Amino acid sequence: MKPFKAFRVHTVHDKPECRFEQLTLDEIDSGDVLIKTAFSAITYKDAMAARGVGKNVRTDRPCVTGVDLSGVVVSSIDDRFREGDHVVVTNYSLGTTHDGAYAEYARVPADWIVPLPSQLSLYEAMGLGTSGLTAALAVERLEQAGLKPSDGAIAITGATGGVGSLAINMFARKGFEVVAISGKKDQEAFLRDIGAARVMSREELLTNRAPLAPPLFAGALDNVGGIYFDRLAARLQPYGKLAIAGMAVGAELTTTVLPWVLRAIDVLGINVSRQLKMDHRRRLWERMSSDLKPTRLAQISRPIAFEQLDGSMDRFFDATTIGRVVVEVGSKAPYHS
Ligand SMILES: NC(=O)c1ccc[n+]([C@@H]2O[C@H](COP(=O)([O-])OP(=O)(O)OC[C@H]3O[C@@H](n4cnc5c(N)ncnc54)[C@H](OP(=O)(O)O)[C@@H]3O)[C@@H](O)[C@H]2O)c1
Repeated sequence: MKPFKAFRVHTVHDKPECRFEQLTLDEIDSGDVLIKTAFSAITYKDAMAARGVGKNVRTDRPCVTGVDLSGVVVSSIDDRFREGDHVVVTNYSLGTTHDGAYAEYARVPADWIVPLPSQLSLYEAMGLGTSGLTAALAVERLEQAGLKPSDGAIAITGATGGVGSLAINMFARKGFEVVAISGKKDQEAFLRDIGAARVMSREELLTNRAPLAPPLFAGALDNVGGIYFDRLAARLQPYGKLAIAGMAVGAELTTTVLPWVLRAIDVLGINVSRQLKMDHRRRLWERMSSDLKPTRLAQISRPIAFEQLDGSMDRFFDATTIGRVVVEVGSKAPYHS
């Protein structure tokens, strides 16, 4: 096989240096299944790896990054997969300690691979990826906790982000009245288009700092953490449900026990990393191809050429990215916005 294009992070004097290179199959990590990568995406985790934030990528040797991948099986030594299968891989060690999605070929353990449901294209799979899986798990956990559209509105923070925008569309599809909480005043039309019934500014949510404030929501999905978690908890109605998926602001909590003790709220953790079991992972992908399939995926996802990868990373740190950025690694997107 001819050498192929890959984007690798090298660690030089403790600092990351990213570059496109030509690699051979011998130079990428081994695994049961060889996949020809069609699309990847950029997540916050990828931006951290490229810029050396949080030290989440291996440093002892160069690493092909990219934590989300859709592609076509080239060969497999595991019976579960055959040449031509459409597959998706998200997280595990992909793109952090195992060579990942930013290369025209990837080799991964069969245990990490989800067969792509036939109702999803390879492009749509990366319009969803880790962000979609996170949003779908939040929908499922809140449903299982008993949250229903008739209970009242659901608030979603980090609304224009990958998780936030997909969650807005999924909850709206399930009949919920969604309140999108965003710092981007100029994105109200986008947020309404993808399903928000109302848009609230971050400042408005932060205005009332009382330990318990008048209830506004029956449920919430928090993608940013910190003070936002505190304010959402204080604004839930009795028996409200709060799912926490992210910590874009920070991991520390400043809150009181009052929302739990006086309003009996539930808090649900969301984690789609390695600990999400494969049967559960497959079930969520099935749901993302059926009852949770976004109705506005074309608006939420935006393709970029493979060559634009490095130049698109920093927007994750100043929070100017909107929705999902899909990377054309080995295939071209079916449309361009
Ligand atoms: N639990 C899991 O398994 C899991 C999986 C995937 C991601 N995550 C985490 O979930 C979070 C969201 O992921 P994502 O992919 O949606 O990230 P993203 O695309 O970077 O979006 C994050 C959004 O959060 C808001 N935000 C950013 N900085 C902020 C700040 N300083 N104060 C208030 N809001 C801020 C912005 O939305 P607005 O401008 O609209 O306010 C931004 O678009 C991240 O922390 C990520 O690490 C967790």
